[in-house]
Amino acid sequence: MDGSRNKAARLALRKHSEEFRRKEFRLSALFGADTNRFHEYSLNHEGLLLDYSKNFIKSETVSLLLDLVEQSQVPAAIDSMFRGEEINTTEQRAALHVALRDPQAKTNTPEVSASLDRIESLVAELHDGKWTGYSGKAITDVVNLGIGGSDLGPAMVCDALQHFATHKLSVHFVSNVDPSHLQNTLKGLQPETTLFVIASKSFATLETLKNAETARDWLLQQTDATATAKHFVAITTNLSAATEFGIEERNLYPLWDWVGGRFSLWSAIGLPIAIALGMDGFRQLLAGAHSMDEHFRTAPLEKNMPVILALLNFWYREYFDAHSTAVIPYSQRLNLLPSFLQQLCMESLGKSVDKQGAAIEHNTGDIIWGTAGTNGQHSYFQLLHQGTEFVPVDFIAAANSDAQGSAEAHQHLLANCFSQSLALMEGKLDADSAHKVVTGNKPSNTLLLEELTPYNLGMLLALYEHKVYALSVLWNINAFDQWGVELGKKLSTKVFAAMSADTDQELLDESTQGLIQKVQHWKKD
Ligand code: F6P
Repeated sequence: MDGSRNKAARLALRKHSEEFRRKEFRLSALFGADTNRFHEYSLNHEGLLLDYSKNFIKSETVSLLLDLVEQSQVPAAIDSMFRGEEINTTEQRAALHVALRDPQAKTNTPEVSASLDRIESLVAELHDGKWTGYSGKAITDVVNLGIGGSDLGPAMVCDALQHFATHKLSVHFVSNVDPSHLQNTLKGLQPETTLFVIASKSFATLETLKNAETARDWLLQQTDATATAKHFVAITTNLSAATEFGIEERNLYPLWDWVGGRFSLWSAIGLPIAIALGMDGFRQLLAGAHSMDEHFRTAPLEKNMPVILALLNFWYREYFDAHSTAVIPYSQRLNLLPSFLQQLCMESLGKSVDKQGAAIEHNTGDIIWGTAGTNGQHSYFQLLHQGTEFVPVDFIAAANSDAQGSAEAHQHLLANCFSQSLALMEGKLDADSAHKVVTGNKPSNTLLLEELTPYNLGMLLALYEHKVYALSVLWNINAFDQWGVELGKKLSTKVFAAMSADTDQELLDESTQGLIQKVQHWKKD
């Protein structure tokens, strides 16, 4: 069953890939053979350029990959997503994050537009100092309590776009159930001027609920329970659980089951972004994402950036045994982007049965990793250049910096970015010792933004979202569920009970018992 839809295209690609695995193949030679290569293998969409010329491809490769796209019915799958069909088949839901940034939301999804209006009012109230805490003082700090998709996106965007922040309030993020995360954050804050945002689609996530309870205790050490209404808002689909926690109806911001956690930063989950950047900044982010949505929906396949990125990922994963992709932003502001992409890509594509439930016989999602360049050059780049792992790289950079008077430093940053992709491609074969030989022949993409603005970041994030969806269609897997995460959650309840001596430890394996006993032996309080 699996793969039968596109068997012929896959076979043709496997055969074709042999050409690039020949000993004498040189990636850099492709440029000699085709002086127009950069123009042929790059795409522009507004302030975003994708250069994919440093890849193991030529025109035949692209046409074979595009055959695969057709045989896998990617165009029909794109239409299904935009039409709001139940493409999340194991949960019987649509995956309609594109509706969250649709400028026609007022008519198409009035609930989305109403939610945006409510966020706008809340942001205005906070920015104008009209939202006051229990003592009558205006709120100065907002703490987002959420994890996974209810944290990574907003935290990354707020960090990346600090140069667009209004600085009217400070926004903080607490995700880990490790108590030091919340404690460190609360250290500099005052209960009377702090607003907590409980961001949890399910309102059932252990880490978030524990942190919310601890935050409420911290507040109630200073005042009485009525203050909860002034200091907590929640974003969730589980309105009854949030109400039970003590959150007033007017402070509840709804989500819908058709918004997947890792695709949710565009919804009310993006509230911290709107607070940090102001509503205009948040709307710009949505507008940029919408522009990429339109590109994905309408651009011909051979000029479709998400489709091309998906095909390249597929190509290396399937025929070159690539186990991972490094995403390396040459931008300190985008340092959190790889963590965000880890959830987006790995939670979506880490599957081993197809949409029909049959075991998959080929590779699916790879490992996504990376940190900001140039720092990475002084840690893991050695392995990229001379190690035995084959790691395709996505380089990301912005042509302009927001740092004043920094033109020279920024030029060094870009020069390093471009020279790393060049070094990976060309290598150095004429060395005086084997230890100094750098083989090269390592492919990469470069995504170049005109500048890091909310609009351009919106485009970039939507690009990766759609790349993930296109890949899931090629692999015939559901990108929108994450059943694998559930097991660990369930077991943690069992282990917690065993650690509290509520249940018999002997129900657990010997290793886990040993670890628990050692903790009990070492425990100080
Ligand atoms: O890690 C699993 C997961 O379910 C993610 O998919 C989700 O983003 C995260 O937990 C948080 O879930 P919630 O928003 O329901 O608290």
